[in-house]
Amino acid sequence: MKTRTIENPFTLVLFGASGDLAWRLVIPALFVLFQKGHLPDSFHLIGVARSEYDASGYCDHLVGFYGDSRPEEWPTFCEHIDYLQADPLQHDTYRQLAERLAGDHKNLDTTDEWIFYLATPPALFAPIAERLGCFDLAKNGERVRIVVEKPLGHNLASFSQINANLLAHFQESQIYRIDHYLGKETVQNILAMRFANPIFEPIWNRNYIDHVAITVAETLGVEKRAAYYEHSGALRDMLQNHILQLLCLVAMEPPIAYDAQDIRNRKIDVLQAIRPIRPEEVYERAARGQYGPGWINGRAVPGYRQEPGIDPESATETYAALKLNIDNWRWQDVPFYLRTGKRLPAKVSEISIRFKPVPHRAFPVDADQSGQPVRLTLQIQPEESIRLHFLVKEPGMPLRLRLVDMRFDYARTFHHELPSAYETLLYEVLAGDASLFMRADQVGAAWKLVQPVLDIWANTSPSDFPNYPAGTWGPESAELLTARDGRSWLVPMLIQSEEMRQ
Ligand SMILES: NC(=O)c1ccc[n+]([C@@H]2O[C@H](COP(=O)([O-])OP(=O)(O)OC[C@H]3O[C@@H](n4cnc5c(N)ncnc54)[C@H](OP(=O)(O)O)[C@@H]3O)[C@@H](O)[C@H]2O)c1
Repeated sequence: MKTRTIENPFTLVLFGASGDLAWRLVIPALFVLFQKGHLPDSFHLIGVARSEYDASGYCDHLVGFYGDSRPEEWPTFCEHIDYLQADPLQHDTYRQLAERLAGDHKNLDTTDEWIFYLATPPALFAPIAERLGCFDLAKNGERVRIVVEKPLGHNLASFSQINANLLAHFQESQIYRIDHYLGKETVQNILAMRFANPIFEPIWNRNYIDHVAITVAETLGVEKRAAYYEHSGALRDMLQNHILQLLCLVAMEPPIAYDAQDIRNRKIDVLQAIRPIRPEEVYERAARGQYGPGWINGRAVPGYRQEPGIDPESATETYAALKLNIDNWRWQDVPFYLRTGKRLPAKVSEISIRFKPVPHRAFPVDADQSGQPVRLTLQIQPEESIRLHFLVKEPGMPLRLRLVDMRFDYARTFHHELPSAYETLLYEVLAGDASLFMRADQVGAAWKLVQPVLDIWANTSPSDFPNYPAGTWGPESAELLTARDGRSWLVPMLIQSEEMRQ
C-alpha cells in the first residue's frame, strides 16, 4: 500500500464560508497545503454563505487572519477562490452551484473531485445534504465527498437522525466526520509507536499494564461558547468524542493494513467491547463537576454560574470522568479512567499507561521512595512527547531507587513546525483517505456508551454544584472513582517536571 497524495483536480465547496471555523482553521489549513505544494495545479474553492461578499471581498476578509503580515503567495492562492453569496436553505443556491461546478468540471467522469465541507451549524447538515442529493450533486462515488464537523448529535437519537439524513444522499464512504483530535500528530503517532516498534506490543496488555488514565484538562473557562456549552457540557463536548477516540487508539488490536476500513474496524471492536454502564452504576463509574470561583495562575476567576451567558443555576457539568472496562482478552481487569474539565490547574492532554509492580520486590522496601508507578506517558499537548518513567539506582549510598524520565520530544527531535490538525485532516479528505475520520458505527457506539450517564445526569439535578474551585483538579467524586479501586489520578507530567526543575 502506498501513501496517498492529492493528485486530482478538485473543487472544495465550503458552506458556512463566512464563519469562524472557515476563517480560523479551514482556509488557513488549505493555504498551508498550497504553500507546501501539496495541491494540484487545478483546484478551486467556492465559499457559500449569505454574507455579502464578491470573490475579491471574500479574499480580503480571509487574509485578515494574517494581520499585517500578508503572505507572499496569497494573491496566487486567491486566484483559486470564488464566492457564492447564497442561503444554503434555498433551492436556487444549488442550481447556481451546479452551474458553477459544471463549468469547472466538464470532465467529471474522469478524475475531478468535489468536496462539500459543511462548516455550518449542525442544524444545517441534513438540509444541505438533502439539497445536494436533490440536485444530483452527491453522485459519482468517492470522487464526491462531504465533510461534517462536530457536534454530531446531542444524543444517540439525534445522531442517528443526522446520520440517516446524510446516508439518504451519500454513501458512508463519501462521508468524512471530523474529530480534530485525530489530526494531531501525537495522536497519529500512537499507532506508529505501538505497531511500528516490536518492543511495546508484548507488554501492551493485562499482564503488564495496571491501568490507563487519560486526562484532557483546560485552564480556560467557558469563554465565548456559553450558548453552545450550556447545551452540551463536558461529557458531550470532550469525552464522548475525543477522549474515547484516544482510548480506541491505545486499546485497539493491530490493523492488518494502515487503511481506513481496517483501522476503523479495529476501533469499533474496542468500542463494542467496552462494558456498558448500567443506569444503577452511573454513580460508581462516572463523576461530574462544575467549577466555582477560584484561582488560576495567580488570577482570580469567576465560577461557571457567574460567567456571561450562563444560567445562575446551571446544572451543566464542566468536568466529567468515567471509569471504563474493556471486556476482551487483552484488557480484562485493566480499568481505563478518563477525565476532562475546564478551569483545571494546567492545559494538558495526556495518556498515562501505568505498569504493574514487579512480581517480587528484591530491593529493600524503603529504597523506593518515589511512590510513583513505572509508566509511559503520551502527551498530546502542550508538549508533544512520549516519556518513559522508570526506576534507576541513585548514585551513592545508602541504596535508593529513583524514578527518572526518558523522553522523546517532537519539538526537539524534528525541528520543523508540526502540521495543524486541520492541515492534516484537509489533506486526507482531499487525498480521499478516511482513516482519520469517524465512521458512523463508531460515533453511534460512543453515543450508546455515554447515553445512560447523560440520561441519569439529566434526570437528577446535581445538588453539590459548584463542587470544585477553579484551579483544582476536579471534584472529590472523581477522586473516589479511582480511590475505590485503590488507585489515584496522577498530577500530569508537565506540572511534575516543572516542579522538579524548581
Ligand atoms: N469554530 C470552531 O472553532 C469550531 C470548532 C469545532 C467545531 N466547529 C463546528 O464547525 C461548524 C462551524 O463553526 P462556526 O463556529 O464557523 O459556526 P458559525 O460561525 O456559527 O456558522 C458558520 C456560518 O454558517 C452560516 N449560518 C449560520 N446560521 C445559519 C442559518 N440559520 N442559515 C444559514 N446559514 C447559517 C453563517 O454564515 P452566513 O450568515 O454568512 O450565511 C455563519 O457564518 C459548527 O458545526 C461547529 O459546531 C467549530
